Amino acid sequence: PGDPLVDTHGRVHRDLRISLTDRCSLRCTYCMPEQGNEWLARSSILSTDEIVRIATVAAADGVTTFRLTGGEPLLRTDIVDVVRRLAAIAAPDGRPVDIAMTTNGIRLRELLPELTDAGLRRLNISIDTVRRDRFHELTRRDRLDDVLDGIAAAAASALRPLKLNAVAMRDVNDDELVDLVEFAVAHDAQMRFIEQMPLDAGHTWDRARMVTQDEILATLSARWSLTPVPGRGGAPAARWLLDGGPHTVGVIASVTAPFCGDCDRLRLTADGQLRNCLFSTTEYDLLPILRSTGSGDREEAIDRMLRSCVHGKLPGHAINDPSFLQPARGMNAIGG
Ligand code: GTP
Ligand code: 5AD
Ligand code: SF4
Repeated sequence: PGDPLVDTHGRVHRDLRISLTDRCSLRCTYCMPEQGNEWLARSSILSTDEIVRIATVAAADGVTTFRLTGGEPLLRTDIVDVVRRLAAIAAPDGRPVDIAMTTNGIRLRELLPELTDAGLRRLNISIDTVRRDRFHELTRRDRLDDVLDGIAAAAASALRPLKLNAVAMRDVNDDELVDLVEFAVAHDAQMRFIEQMPLDAGHTWDRARMVTQDEILATLSARWSLTPVPGRGGAPAARWLLDGGPHTVGVIASVTAPFCGDCDRLRLTADGQLRNCLFSTTEYDLLPILRSTGSGDREEAIDRMLRSCVHGKLPGHAINDPSFLQPARGMNAIGG
């Protein structure tokens, strides 16, 4: 315990993405069917105490960032408490950990003051379109106004950098990329376009229909001069200055330009499974450790499980291999 989480390829793991629920207030067609997925059993969902227990061991092992995801993390009724308790965890050097969240923005306006007070430091908000009819069709819910309210609240807050995410989709929003960037700039936010990955419950992903990084850049180049920003580190987004800056746009090209060689992420699902990759087919089950009675050395057992998970990490995903198999878990139950 206490040593950094280094895998067999030399990657140091400093980022734990914690999925708080697999449920969501939207039904994006590329993620879930109308009736939702088959939800995780309530009895298997981690309590806040259990999440904090795992996060505390991870922080002692050098994890410095916790990103809260879902489903939709703001559906968790004790979300403010989760943030407050995670923010109170100190890294071994005494510095506070970094608490971030990825949300669809619904309920954000109402919750943001409490979340920032509790210690939330960074926000990424998903918005695939700023057109009302299109939003309704894509998410199957007429809630664009709630999302826009949430983004406006985030823009007015001190949380920076503020990032907006859009999955780029052919014939869905590929005619709206410039509008989305302009919308982001107007909110002092960084727009990021994401190449769609094969992770939807319906297995509808089609490589031929995917909007690639090259296409995204070609579209944006017609409107702005793009200058690459160096020093990406472990971040999934490559970024470009728009007309020399200061605003930037990012592209997360997981399929055509994988960044697995710099991956520093681990994932914890809402039902207590550790995953070393979005695409891993193996999970490391923490529930028995957390829920067996009288385990005095629970922290050590969690630490061992973290190390097994890191040790089992493959060099990268196999989306581009003919033998690729989509993981059984859908995106909503992995946490993105
Ligand atoms: P930052 O720390 O702000 O850069 O956050 P992020 O981009 O890692 O997180 P976010 O939840 O906003 O994710 C945006 C997109 O990147 C989603 O489509 C994620 O699935 C994808 N993503 C995040 N982490 C990884 C990763 O490790 N591998 C791959 N392939 N995609 C990732
Ligand atoms: N490929 C890429 N990104 C996806 N997201 C959801 N499903 C996919 C997918 N198949 C995005 C969401 C959100 C982020 C957490 O992941 O739109 O912005
Ligand atoms: Fe990391 Fe897996 Fe994403 Fe590659 S696909 S960057 S290994 S989580």
